[in-house]
Amino acid sequence: MTDEKARSRHAELVSEVRAHDYRYYVLDDPAIGDRDYDALYHELRELEAAHPELATADSPTRRVGSTPRGALKNVRHVIPMMSLDNTYSEEMLRDFARRVETGLPTGKTARFCVEPKLDGASIEILYRDGRFVEGSTRGDGEHGEDITENLRTIRSLPLTIPYKEPLTLRAEVVIYRRDLAKINQGRVAAGEAPFANPRNAASGSLRMIDPRVVAERPLRAIVWQVVEGAKLADSHSDALDKLSELGLPTHKKHVRASSIDEVLKIIEDLELSRKDYPYETDGAVIKVDDFGQQAILGATAKFPRWAIAYKFSAERAETHVQAIEIGVGRTGTLTPVAVLDPVQLAGTVVSRASLHNEQIVGQLDLRIGDRVTIEKAGEIIPQVVAVHHEARSSDLPPFRMPEKCPSCGTPVVRVEGEVAVKCPNRRCPDQVQGALFHFSRRFAMDIDHLGESLIESLVNQELVRDVADLYELTHERVVALERMGKKSAENLITSIQNSKQRTFDRLITGLGIEHVGQVAARQLAEALHSLDDLLALTPEELEERVTSISGFGPKMAQSLREFHADPTARELLERLQKLGVSRPQPRPEVAAEGPLTGQSFCVTGVLSRKREDVHAAIRAAGGTVHDKVKIGTTYLVAGDKVGAAKLSAAKKAGTRVIDEATLERLIAGETLEPEA
Ligand code: IVH
Repeated sequence: MTDEKARSRHAELVSEVRAHDYRYYVLDDPAIGDRDYDALYHELRELEAAHPELATADSPTRRVGSTPRGALKNVRHVIPMMSLDNTYSEEMLRDFARRVETGLPTGKTARFCVEPKLDGASIEILYRDGRFVEGSTRGDGEHGEDITENLRTIRSLPLTIPYKEPLTLRAEVVIYRRDLAKINQGRVAAGEAPFANPRNAASGSLRMIDPRVVAERPLRAIVWQVVEGAKLADSHSDALDKLSELGLPTHKKHVRASSIDEVLKIIEDLELSRKDYPYETDGAVIKVDDFGQQAILGATAKFPRWAIAYKFSAERAETHVQAIEIGVGRTGTLTPVAVLDPVQLAGTVVSRASLHNEQIVGQLDLRIGDRVTIEKAGEIIPQVVAVHHEARSSDLPPFRMPEKCPSCGTPVVRVEGEVAVKCPNRRCPDQVQGALFHFSRRFAMDIDHLGESLIESLVNQELVRDVADLYELTHERVVALERMGKKSAENLITSIQNSKQRTFDRLITGLGIEHVGQVAARQLAEALHSLDDLLALTPEELEERVTSISGFGPKMAQSLREFHADPTARELLERLQKLGVSRPQPRPEVAAEGPLTGQSFCVTGVLSRKREDVHAAIRAAGGTVHDKVKIGTTYLVAGDKVGAAKLSAAKKAGTRVIDEATLERLIAGETLEPEA
């Protein structure tokens, strides 16, 4: 074939393959079968193999992914990627519309655009001179990671468009439900953990280092905003239409509305039809349509004033607060808990929601008798996200924390500078129960047959007042408890006695010393060796040992010092020693040298394997592990259902958050480029 012929055949093939990609991936309406498509694609590849100069960066053959780079580069978003404020009721939406009206010059009314809120991973994409040139993750909103090469593999994203002006777009990368089912089958067959939902699968896939692997994932991009490209249109809805015409993938489900009543109707329709969408949606987004009006309204520090999200009810429910109960934890902290009219939420019946502390109840202005919206978004425990003040019938009295501990009646104390309200009585039955339960847990002394209700009976019958009492329980006393058979009593006593053989670190964990978690307990046990040794140490000697432990912070040291000096605690330790509880800590393995040497980790959330195993893998690769994120912690390994507190601690400490897959890559010896 002459060069000229090759060039023209190449151009033909490129345009055909592109058109078929568009029909298949964007319109979901293929025009030819797989076999015919493969034939075209194959011809294109052969041609490029023979004429490498034709294989430009925007050829469809370049979608399979280039070779892996070392790490993802950091990029700064020119305009920060903000998030949206959420609403949960008609009233809140009407409030939004009123705020919009007040924000606009008098006489001007806003028109809205309502569209689905796609549940995926958000990205920014840049087209310059008609070419796709760069793409990044949302990251922290200000900086994201450069994932250009990965995005090139997404076939619904055109590599070229017939529009030469600069375009900066925001989009969601999603995985269709039906595709996720397929990926998960494959993962399970390969012995890997399935993805919990399409969002996790999408965001995990996007940040992979090897674009060739990304190319195998059925990712789709759906554009939902234009941030640069005002010349395209005067309004958001027109801009989306224009983008579709240019061949860009949009959701095509936006509807214009000229009043808030219309908005409400559209949301209702969206909510009804969402189950028919191939991708997950978790709400609707309501935007002021006119770009000029958007600019006038501007943004607060966190959210734009011209847009708001409305969360669909699958993840939320409305109910009524019957009461606010106060729980007393093992450290004496009083926690308010909302007792709710039972309500169905995301597949379970919910009748309680944690309210965390007095301050949060105050911020929500939540009162007994209120109607509330609860949400279960990513978190295991449902949260109260909104109080329907407008539905409050009469003047309900504001909530106050009790002045006395609800369990033992001791006056509570407020710690200076902390929100926590505490019961100072160490013998408080609720605290003792909490302490016993913690002591018996799997990761601590691992005592079988000692469940919560049994602990409650033991404490109420005054058979047990602290953990040492457990080891003095006799068969006669246990069997005398209500509903306790001979065999069960025997089993319990045996499990308790067996637990004496746990290593010293498990005992330290079980004691629940404040700020000393599983990891710190192990470090301590390795430094102190045994309970005998600990009791033999003077406070000065203890101090010396503790300061030699790397990663042992001042809070932990302080807490340990107090524990060691406390006469009641000391007495407890001496009794445990006499009873022969715990055996000396085995010598620590010499710290491994490996790819993680010099790096420290904190592991949180639900992972594909037991957390202890993840810790062991990190240590085996030379890394160190801490219970908490602090300044200097290199990585927070976040699994599913990670609490917001952990993430914000990481942000504060400048700790990089990575997923389990990224950890695996680090262990395999890859290096990530440091974040800016
Ligand atoms: S507009 C200034 N429209 O929701 C923010 N966002 O909480 C404008 N999202 O980070 C956002 N679908 O990842 C917008 N149709 C849609 C969306 C959408 C999903 C996500 C997006 C954003 C988050 C905001």
